[in-house]
Amino acid sequence: MIFVTGGAGFIGANFVLDWLQEHDEPVVNIDKLTYAGNLESLATLKGDSRHTFAHADIGDTVLIPELLAKYQPRAIINFAAESHVDRSIHSPEDFIQTNVVGTFNLLESVRAYWGKLDEQEKADFRFLHVSTDEVYGSLAKDEPAFTELHQYEPNSPYSASKAASDHLVRSYHHTYGLPVLTTNCSNNYGPYHFPEKLIPLMIVNALAGKSLPIYGDGQQIRDWLYVKDHCSAIRRVVEAGTLGETYNVGGWNEKPNIEIVHTVCALLDELRPRDDKKSYTEQITFVTDRLGHDRRYAIDARKIERELGWKPAETFDTGIRKTVQWYLDNQEWVANVQSGSYRDWVETNYAGRS
Ligand code: NAD
Ligand code: DAU
Repeated sequence: MIFVTGGAGFIGANFVLDWLQEHDEPVVNIDKLTYAGNLESLATLKGDSRHTFAHADIGDTVLIPELLAKYQPRAIINFAAESHVDRSIHSPEDFIQTNVVGTFNLLESVRAYWGKLDEQEKADFRFLHVSTDEVYGSLAKDEPAFTELHQYEPNSPYSASKAASDHLVRSYHHTYGLPVLTTNCSNNYGPYHFPEKLIPLMIVNALAGKSLPIYGDGQQIRDWLYVKDHCSAIRRVVEAGTLGETYNVGGWNEKPNIEIVHTVCALLDELRPRDDKKSYTEQITFVTDRLGHDRRYAIDARKIERELGWKPAETFDTGIRKTVQWYLDNQEWVANVQSGSYRDWVETNYAGRS
C-alpha cells in the first residue's frame, strides 16, 4: 500500500481518486484537515475498503511512526503543505511550521521506518515530494522556461518554505540514502480546487454576481496544467523516476491572468449566461497587486517526457471547459466550502485592496 499526505486537499484528493481508478493498491490518506482539507472531495470513495483516512499532522512524531509501523507502506507521496501565496504573505508562520518543520519531522519518521526494512524493501521504497515551480523565482518575458537546473530563487514565504522542504528532501537522499524523488509542478486547475485560488475564485465570484479581482495589471504569466495530468506525472515518477532526481512538470500553457479570466467569463457566458445577457467580463475589477508578485513562471517539461515518456493529455481549452462545467455541476460542494472562515479570509485578503 501507499501513503498519501494532504490527500483531502485539491491535488491530493484528485490524486487519491485517480490512483484508485488506475490501481487496486490501497491508499492510507493522512491529512490534518486544515481549512484546505475537505473530505467531501472524497465522497465517492465512501465504503471503498482501498481507502483509509487518518486524521494526522505530518509533523506528529508519535502518530506518523505508529501509522508507518501499522500499515508498512511501500511508498509515500507528500502533498501536505500550506499552499496559498496570499495567505503566506498575511501569516507566514503556518508555512514554516508545516512546509519546513512538518516535512522535516515526516522525513525523520520515514527515515526511522525505512532504516528497519529489509534490503529488498529498502531498495523498493519511494518517498515522492510534491513541490512547485515557484521555488525557481520569477522569469522575465523572454527568458527560457525553468529546467531542473535552474537556481532556486524563491520570492514569497510560501515558495521559500517549499524550497526549504525540497532541500531537506534532497539532503535525506544524499546523506542517508533515503530513496526520494521530487516533482516541481506549475499551476494546477480542475475539480475540487479551493476557491481562494484564481480560477475557482473567478468562477465562484462570477456566478455570485461579485467582482472578479485582478491583481495589478493582470499580465502576470502562469503555466497551467490540468490536475489529472499532474496526477499521471506523479504516478509515472513513482513508478520509473531515478532516485534523488527532480522532475519539472508543466502543461506548456503559459497564459497571462487577464486572459485566463476572459476565458472563464466566455465559458460562463456560453454555459450559464447572466440574466441581463451581459458578459461576466463586466464584473472584472483591477485591484492592488500582491506584494512581491512573481511576474512569470514557465516550466520546461522535456526531461520528464524524454526520460519517462510523460506528456500532458489535456490542452488548456479542453481542461478549462471541463473545469467550468464541473463547478456548474457541483454547486453543493462549492457552497459547503464557503464557510465562515472562508468569508473571513476573503475579507482579510480583499477588503484592503483599492
Ligand atoms: P491544498 O492547500 O489544496 O491542500 C493541502 C492539503 O494538505 C489539505 O488537505 C490540508 O488539510 C493538508 N495539510 C496541511 N497541513 C498539513 C499537515 N501539517 N499535516 C497533514 N496535512 C496537512 O494544496 P494543493 O493545491 O492540493 O497542493 C498540494 C501540494 O502540491 C502542495 O505541496 C503544493 O505546494 C504543491 N503544488 C501545488 C500546485 C497548485 O497549483 N495547487 C502546483 C504545484 C505544486
Ligand atoms: O506555480 C505553482 C503554484 O501555483 C503553487 O505552488 C501554489 O500552491 C498555487 O497556489 C499556485 O500559486 P499562484 O500564486 O500562482 O496561484 P493563485 O491562484 O493564487 O494565483 C494565480 C495568479 O492569479 C497569480 O498571478 C495571482 C493572480 N490572482 C490571484 C487571485 C487569488 C489575481 O489576480 N487575483 C486573485 O484574486
